[in-house]
Amino acid sequence: MNIKEIIKKSIEEIFGPRDFSVEHPGDERMGDYASNVALLMAKQLEKAPRELATDIIAKLEKDERLMEVVEKIEVAGPGFINFWIKDEVLTERLSEMLKNDGHCLDSDFMSGKKVLVEYSSPNIAKRFSVGHLRSTIIGQALFNLYKHSGAEVTNDNHLGDWGTQFGMIIAAAEEKNFDVSKMTVTDFENLYIEFNKRIETTPELKDKARDAFARLESGDENAKKIWRECIEISMKEFAQIYHKLGVSFEHEYGESVYLKTMPGIIEEAMEIDVATEGERGALIIKFEKDGKEYLPPAMLQKSDGTTTYFTRDLATIRKRLDDVELRSDLYVYEVGSEQTLHFRQVFEAVKFLWEDAKTVEFKHVAHGLMTFGGEKMSTRKGTNIKLEDLIFRAGEEAKKVAKEKNIEVISEKIGMGAIKYNELRRSPESNYEFKWEEALSMEGNSGPYLQYVYVRTKGILEKVGVKIGEVKNSRNQKLNDDESRLARWLVLRIGEGEMVENAAKNFAPHLICQTLFELAQKFNGFYDRSRVIGVPEENLRLLLVAVTGLVIKSGLEILGIEVVEKM
Ligand code: ARG
Repeated sequence: MNIKEIIKKSIEEIFGPRDFSVEHPGDERMGDYASNVALLMAKQLEKAPRELATDIIAKLEKDERLMEVVEKIEVAGPGFINFWIKDEVLTERLSEMLKNDGHCLDSDFMSGKKVLVEYSSPNIAKRFSVGHLRSTIIGQALFNLYKHSGAEVTNDNHLGDWGTQFGMIIAAAEEKNFDVSKMTVTDFENLYIEFNKRIETTPELKDKARDAFARLESGDENAKKIWRECIEISMKEFAQIYHKLGVSFEHEYGESVYLKTMPGIIEEAMEIDVATEGERGALIIKFEKDGKEYLPPAMLQKSDGTTTYFTRDLATIRKRLDDVELRSDLYVYEVGSEQTLHFRQVFEAVKFLWEDAKTVEFKHVAHGLMTFGGEKMSTRKGTNIKLEDLIFRAGEEAKKVAKEKNIEVISEKIGMGAIKYNELRRSPESNYEFKWEEALSMEGNSGPYLQYVYVRTKGILEKVGVKIGEVKNSRNQKLNDDESRLARWLVLRIGEGEMVENAAKNFAPHLICQTLFELAQKFNGFYDRSRVIGVPEENLRLLLVAVTGLVIKSGLEILGIEVVEKM
């Protein structure tokens, strides 16, 4: 059981389960944990809070299990109860963390639960955008976070492989008799952009595109062949990006997968009066409560009988509820913030439609905009050119900070780490301007900085010739201030599962970055002021060094960032 739970349980034995809190006080001199239970109960029992706190403490001090971990308990302020944890418990837990290796920071708050994280989801025949990059990096971190929270997790890449844009590509390719198999994604995109431009002056082309899309829908061989080539070529290009990012998917159900099930869903929605016929025969779902509209209506089927992105998302949820491999308690969607309204409509509509959608949770984690050189990147304007720069030149850029200049693999890992960390250290919804200097900074809150601190810990252990995992526990030793601060951060903020739980619960990988950065600062403070090797405290200090290294490595792993052995 973790320490916080021991404290909670012990309090509950006095009052039964209540809504009190056990948290870290803002000021570390006030102890490791503080509870408001006396303040809360004083009202109900009509007692003075400080007095009640003193009574509670007297009872707590008789709890043997609690007193095994607690050094002292005191009343503070208006009636808080503060707890200090024993140094020897901290060092013991540090050794346990070492034994747990890559799981030293795990939580179990999601055990027995299933989670599906949908992320990346690029569009076929269009270039992978910076938005998709953000989704991929953040989504992968969320996926990893739930893995370390005890949940059974799966992922799904919801590829945009259906929609009227294929009508244009097919029409354009047929018109010029292109050998589609020799084209690239950029070619497809240009074809699409050009065709769009020509429609402005030659409106008949619009009908051609519509006709081509209709043929694709009805299974015309040539149309389907072009469509399939688009998918194959795009997926090959995307695979290179995923390889660079170290990302892979257990499921990749594109939007076209849902074509078969959509008619049934539309019919069902009409039958149970969830959908109604709107203007010119389109089918829509309205969102009203007490005669008032709380969300704009969503279109289920256009007036020309074609389905929509919205309907495909309803069908996607139906599959995710029915398929045993996908069925989950929590469904996380990592998609740009411009689709916020769309997901509100989707998540609301499925609750109108299906009972089993009411018992699970849907969450849209929306990312904001990333700009590069002050410019917003957009496919349509053709300014979407920086992604390749960003991930395929990362290694080159990182050579500027890596001393081991000739080692390609290292600078590659530093470069990728820089990009990913630079993304993950902010909350997903934030808008930001990408700057290489910032991402590669060795002083600030950056990937390379944490990789460097890891290398430092490794260097110390190598000097004495011990490997991580071999460092001995040192019991019954009082910790000095630096050791205490570091040990407390490692055990009580990280080793107890708190860091992972907070980040997962709040869909906030940046909380991992914050905690790791703070750890690195505390470690540097400790290392600057304390000799590690050849002093009586050597064992204890090596333990602190080893666990710091392990935590940075495992924490970065959750963020999808690899450590390097030299820098
Ligand atoms: N392909 C879409 C786009 O690039 C994102 C898909 C998001 N996921 C979803 N279930 N609608 O905009």
